[in-house]
Amino acid sequence: MRRPRMQAFSRTLTSEHTLTPSDLLYPVFISDGIDKPEAIPVMEGVVRLPIDDLVGRAQSAYALGIPVIALFPRIPAKDKTPDGSHATDPDNIVCRAIQALKTHCPEIGVMVDVALDPFTSHGHDGIIKNQQVDNDATLAILAKQATTYAQAGADIIAPSDMMDGRVAVIRDALDQAGHPQTMIMSYAAKYASQLYAPFREAVEATPLSEIADKKTYQMHPANSDEAMREIALDIDEGADFIIVKPGMPYLDVIARASHQFQVPLFAYQVSGEYQMIRQFINNLDEATARQLVLEMLVAFKRAGCRGILTYFAYEVASWLKAG
Ligand code: PBG
Repeated sequence: MRRPRMQAFSRTLTSEHTLTPSDLLYPVFISDGIDKPEAIPVMEGVVRLPIDDLVGRAQSAYALGIPVIALFPRIPAKDKTPDGSHATDPDNIVCRAIQALKTHCPEIGVMVDVALDPFTSHGHDGIIKNQQVDNDATLAILAKQATTYAQAGADIIAPSDMMDGRVAVIRDALDQAGHPQTMIMSYAAKYASQLYAPFREAVEATPLSEIADKKTYQMHPANSDEAMREIALDIDEGADFIIVKPGMPYLDVIARASHQFQVPLFAYQVSGEYQMIRQFINNLDEATARQLVLEMLVAFKRAGCRGILTYFAYEVASWLKAG
């Protein structure tokens, strides 16, 4: 078994998977009220960008070979309400960012999160009724958020709210509103994870109070059969692509899904995974650090992913480009 491992060329020749910039989807945080990139201490090396800087970033990301940028807004407290209705305002920061990207960097795919949590005064992904996140009351506003973003020019709508039936409602709303070409990448198997904590700080989501719990809509980490049901439903409802989230602790779910479904599958290496890796590589030399990050990412390819949402996307694409 060791013969092909002896030289670099034969290791390359026999590798079953490769990671390229085209495998990377680049999540970025955007914010109004800043005029230069703003550090996010809980995610070292990650920043919030004003829209002006976003455009330049997207242009260089695209030049590095990254096909998709995914937008995550920080919404000021004054625009948060119990029903998150600012999510459907055609002048909100997400819509303005989409328009800026489509004007100045039309080639890059623009993906947007559809969920209410950055916009709600209670921090949940849906509307609260009787102390619960109300599934069906939330669907209508999600559909409106999706069509608002499609109207602004978004290419990919990514529902991350975990309400039942949302993909069907969003697909129907997009078609009715004249956006049959807008794609849906659904966070089909999204687990109730403690690894999202840095993200919630990055977007300044309202800390969750005693009412309800994300566990009442996001999945139990112990379940994998249930993930297959979730994915099957989303495909049936019209999802073009599927996400499993978080990534690394759920590689088994990814591998299973990739065998079971012939739909492009993506992993989200989430904020907590990013920060764990970042803290570990802080103590390594540059070459070792790069190899470690690439090892973490190629694992998703091996498990069956078509691509990975990762906060390392830009750095990794520049390493790969430099060779
Ligand atoms: C919003 C959303 C979350 C993430 C992406 N979209 C947070 C949550 O559901 O609480 C987390 C991403 C990350 O941690 O990097 N629904």
